[in-house]
Amino acid sequence: MRSIVIASGKGGVGKTSISVNLAIALSQLGKRAIVVDTDVSMANVGIMLGIDRAPISLHNVLMGETNIRDAVYEGPGKIKYVPSSLSLERVKKLVLDKLPEIIKDLEPIADYVIIDSPPGIDRVTEAAVSSAKEMIIVVTPNPASLADALKMINMASKKGIVTLGFVENMATGDKTEIKKEEIETLLSVKHLHTIPEDPEVRRATSVQTPFLVRNPNSPASREIRILAAKISGEKVYVETKVKKGFFASLLDAIFGRKN
Ligand SMILES: Nc1ncnc2c1ncn2[C@@H]1O[C@H](COP(=O)(O)OP(=O)(O)O)[C@@H](O)[C@H]1O
Ligand SMILES: [Mg+2]
Repeated sequence: MRSIVIASGKGGVGKTSISVNLAIALSQLGKRAIVVDTDVSMANVGIMLGIDRAPISLHNVLMGETNIRDAVYEGPGKIKYVPSSLSLERVKKLVLDKLPEIIKDLEPIADYVIIDSPPGIDRVTEAAVSSAKEMIIVVTPNPASLADALKMINMASKKGIVTLGFVENMATGDKTEIKKEEIETLLSVKHLHTIPEDPEVRRATSVQTPFLVRNPNSPASREIRILAAKISGEKVYVETKVKKGFFASLLDAIFGRKN
């Protein structure tokens, strides 16, 4: 089982969107993926999936009331997830320290555990990061998100967590954006993938449906599938409706799509 925390430092960069849709994309590749929500802020996993209340949450698991395997729910796109609860912020450090052990209990039922982390670098974030073996940093191509990302990478490295790289989200291609090569230099981590600014993502969030389910052919959906393939080392099937251009053909060549 691989455990990957999706972190950023800064809020609103797309961690929850990426966690949810990456898990769905991984399951479409035949992997058993589970999202664990450790964020109690507004657009958390449950809200993004249109499931606002769950009888058993991560809080009950942390309090020792139940096993994490009893807190796994299924949502749109057959996504499996463990919901957070508002009381998570109030649980004691001692209890939060159990998170890494608790995540391990998913081993019999998961190939991938995707941990959606809260913004900021507080004790909940630290517990979320510590419960994973690998980390993906989400940044947007602007300076504010990079300073926080750097703090996060340093924290993870002290704990021996491998940073797989960064995902650049909400890229518009505008000249004013920081280039991915510059981000690589600034953060000293590899560029994993870029997900464009895509109005379909915001629309999907507002109707509480994962964008990969609502519009599987939108630009963000295509890129999240490629990201899932890169992470899992699988070949990806890139659907193209329009006549293939050079870039699409190149992607097919790289990811081995058969026509
Ligand atoms: N690639 C994207 N294009 C457009 N909007 C996006 C994209 N990624 C995320 N968003 C939007 O940004 C907002 C914040 O995303 P969210 O995943 O909740 O961020 P975080 O979990 O980091 O706080 C949501 O409204 C979401 O729909
Ligand atoms: Mg979030």
